[in-house]
Amino acid sequence: MRNSRPIILFPLLCFLSSTISILCDPNTLVCNEKEKHALLRFKKALSNPGNRLSSWSVNQDCCRWEAVRCNNVTGRVVELHLGNPYDADDYEFYRLGGEISPALLELEFLSYLNLSWNDFGGSPIPSFLGSMGSLRYLDLTSVGFGGLVPHQLGNLSTLRHLDLGYNNGLYVENLGWISHLAFLKYLGMNGVDLHREVHWLESVSMFPSLSELHLSDCELNSNKTSSFGSVATSVSECCCVEYC
Ligand SMILES: *[C@@H]1O[C@H](CO)[C@@H](O)[C@H](O)[C@H]1NC(C)=O
Ligand SMILES: *[C@@H]1O[C@H](CO)[C@@H](O)[C@H](O)[C@H]1NC(C)=O
Ligand SMILES: *[C@@H]1O[C@H](CO)[C@@H](O)[C@H](O)[C@H]1NC(C)=O
Repeated sequence: MRNSRPIILFPLLCFLSSTISILCDPNTLVCNEKEKHALLRFKKALSNPGNRLSSWSVNQDCCRWEAVRCNNVTGRVVELHLGNPYDADDYEFYRLGGEISPALLELEFLSYLNLSWNDFGGSPIPSFLGSMGSLRYLDLTSVGFGGLVPHQLGNLSTLRHLDLGYNNGLYVENLGWISHLAFLKYLGMNGVDLHREVHWLESVSMFPSLSELHLSDCELNSNKTSSFGSVATSVSECCCVEYC
């Protein structure tokens, strides 16, 4: 009889306090409070007509919010899957827009940021994205960004995947910053106007690990694209102008 008491007490305690219930279930992650509030500020600056972020509420654990992934040991936010997953008729309705808040900078361990297929109305790529030092994946495909691509993106030295394709008139004046991205495997720049950059071939040839390069509709000088194959030997998949 004496031994059975703790066996009864243990499940009882689990009911009594939510803190203890977390200890009873090691799979329950609790997000970092500071990161939760940063994400709420980020949400507030966005327009969200299709209400895709309805699960982002202060009373919920942010590791369980739609589109948010946390590290399963530390509970820190590591991925934001905000690409618009809808197509055809629903696509326009579910686009996020508005403003991208620098509150994102508080997500110190964010390694994956996907904002593809949304619509930020021709605004420039925020240069503070260049200070998100943990990013490995940055997908800005068709997010309606315009203007000069900020050279600060060259600070993202751990980046593996960068896609800036299909935006509204992004352009590059000087691609020198891109050679700082030593681990880049995938570079997507379809439709980014590169005609002002005469040294683009030298810049994109400097990657030791690049295996996929997308440069169609980049207004490139075609004399140079013809020599591309001999320079970038590691690139296995490449679609630029017809010369590749
Ligand atoms: C935690 O994440 C790692 C890597 O993503 C995975 O291999 C592991 O199975 C996960 N552990 C749990 C308890 O989910
Ligand atoms: C970003 O999100 C879109 C839409 O969900 C998806 O199709 C795409 O593969 C994602 N990009 C990356 C790099 O995972
Ligand atoms: C980012 O890069 C710029 C130059 O491109 C440099 O002046 C700045 O100090 C860098 N910032 C960080 C946080 O590394």
